[in-house]
Amino acid sequence: MQRTPAIYGAPPKVLGTIEFDTSEMMFWLYCSVKLPGNYSFTIPDNLKKFAELLVRVRDDAIQVRDWNDSYVYLSAKTLYVSPGNPGNRLGWHSDGFLTNDLNYIWSDRNPTLFCEPGVRLHFAADHTEALEEMNVLGELWRDVGKANTYPEKTLLRLDQTVLHAVNPEVTPGVRTFLKVSISDKPYALKGNSINHALNHPAPVEDRQVERNCPRGIAA
Ligand SMILES: [Fe+2]
Repeated sequence: MQRTPAIYGAPPKVLGTIEFDTSEMMFWLYCSVKLPGNYSFTIPDNLKKFAELLVRVRDDAIQVRDWNDSYVYLSAKTLYVSPGNPGNRLGWHSDGFLTNDLNYIWSDRNPTLFCEPGVRLHFAADHTEALEEMNVLGELWRDVGKANTYPEKTLLRLDQTVLHAVNPEVTPGVRTFLKVSISDKPYALKGNSINHALNHPAPVEDRQVERNCPRGIAA
């Protein structure tokens, strides 16, 4: 089995804190807000209150990748969370594993856990096997105190080298989780939120039982 380079276990990049109006319950999943060929965003009305987030992300991302040629997606969940329903899938993973996608996350409760072992790890270059290895190693490093969190309302940038997990020890209450995803490929999974003002390719791939790569298997 082919292995990845030893690049995993990097900390996220900290981009400061932001406040948002989080009073409306919502569940938007990978809603397209920019297509290649555009510099600016096309944001559905319900998500316009997060425009500052998108601008902060653009200001950062434009320094490290080709902004105009990127797809940009906004996920926004304001949901009641509890230990039995933490709002995101449990388990250690890397967003954009084996891709150059960038993800920016923000939450106002139950901050994400980051595996920061101080060394870099490598995994099987296969999504299913890598997830199993990440879960084992993530828990081992967590047990020895190498799981870190950042303050609520902090904007964090993750590339594929950042191992993380939803914190299963949830304080019940309403939680907002925001994620901006940047990719040079369109996200292809059925069930993604659709921006009716943009001509994004229609999602065609069914979601799998295990954690999905948002680009889909065919990408
Ligand atoms: Fe994630």
